[in-house]
Amino acid sequence: MKKHNFNAGPAILPAEVLEKAARACVELDGIGLSLLEISHRSSEFTAIMDRSVHLVRELLQLDEAYHVLFLSGGASSQFYMSALNLLAPDQKASYVDTGTWSYKAIQDARRLGTIEILASSKEEGYTFIPKNYSIPEDARYLHLTSNNTIYGTQYHAFPNSPIPLVCDMSSDIMSRPFDIRPFGLIYAGAQKNIGPAGATLVIVRKDMLGATGRDLSPMMDYSVHAKENSLYNTPPVFPIYVTMLTLEWILGLGGLEAMERRNREKQETLYREIDSNPLFKGRCVPEDRSWMNVTYDLTQPDLEAAFLKACKEAGIEGVKGHRSAGGFRASLYNALPVESVKVLTGVMRDFAEKNG
Ligand SMILES: Cc1ncc(COP(=O)(O)O)c(C=O)c1O
Repeated sequence: MKKHNFNAGPAILPAEVLEKAARACVELDGIGLSLLEISHRSSEFTAIMDRSVHLVRELLQLDEAYHVLFLSGGASSQFYMSALNLLAPDQKASYVDTGTWSYKAIQDARRLGTIEILASSKEEGYTFIPKNYSIPEDARYLHLTSNNTIYGTQYHAFPNSPIPLVCDMSSDIMSRPFDIRPFGLIYAGAQKNIGPAGATLVIVRKDMLGATGRDLSPMMDYSVHAKENSLYNTPPVFPIYVTMLTLEWILGLGGLEAMERRNREKQETLYREIDSNPLFKGRCVPEDRSWMNVTYDLTQPDLEAAFLKACKEAGIEGVKGHRSAGGFRASLYNALPVESVKVLTGVMRDFAEKNG
């Protein structure tokens, strides 16, 4: 029997996506060959790439001002590559530090230009999203991490910025609608909300490129990948295909509005239980709580092992907190059904009755 999958990433994928992906490994759509055996320049794979790009455009309502790229190297490679493509050596960029991933982005960008940290919630254990800082108009861009996978905070409104936003949306891309217009660049590893590990989505506004004066290696240059339709080198064929299937699934359910409704119900169900159950408490300030990664603790920490055992017995997987943060973290990505959240809250209630 399938488990209730609360893993933080790689994470749950829709069952129908897994079934189609498994079939394509044996034979892609009756062509007599596996998806894994065909050229990335074949008409079949070109159609998959085109469809993937089209789905991103349709779901996010992107116009031709943006390139849509599928690269490899994970979101981590974008920490460096984004600054390499956008920031000239004599320019500065602004960053907000909301957790481990933002901080890694800051460290990489520092290799390429002047980086100003406008605000940080580090001293308070990254339990909130800083607000009320001023954004310098002479910085090239403002970098944000929209959802902090490890600590469990999320922007529910983006700052009103006089400069373009650059955003790591790895753990909440396609989980809700948002206004694309303030964004100059968005990047996301696929492996949480839109696919498996191995594909990295990059959306970049065309007018952001070509202004650093750097002579870039083609593999590091967004313009080259854009010109070649993400086929400059051999792309991650299978992860892109599974991402395409997942984006089709999102569209089929009603797009980002439908994802938002689904995700709202899941997070409300779980936070309601955390807030009403005396044995548990949430980690982050309520207004900045993540809908994707719910972080919480037991009020009696010595019961941790017993709670994890109760989860395991109920078929619940992946609720142990990140190794650097401890406690519990339940990831509620798009593909997780609300029924799984109800199983988890049921276990929390039973556990409180027995141990409260
Ligand atoms: C918000 C965020 N950014 C970046 C990363 C790093 O992604 P990758 O492992 O694809 O490089 C993660 C991974 O969990 C993440 O959650």
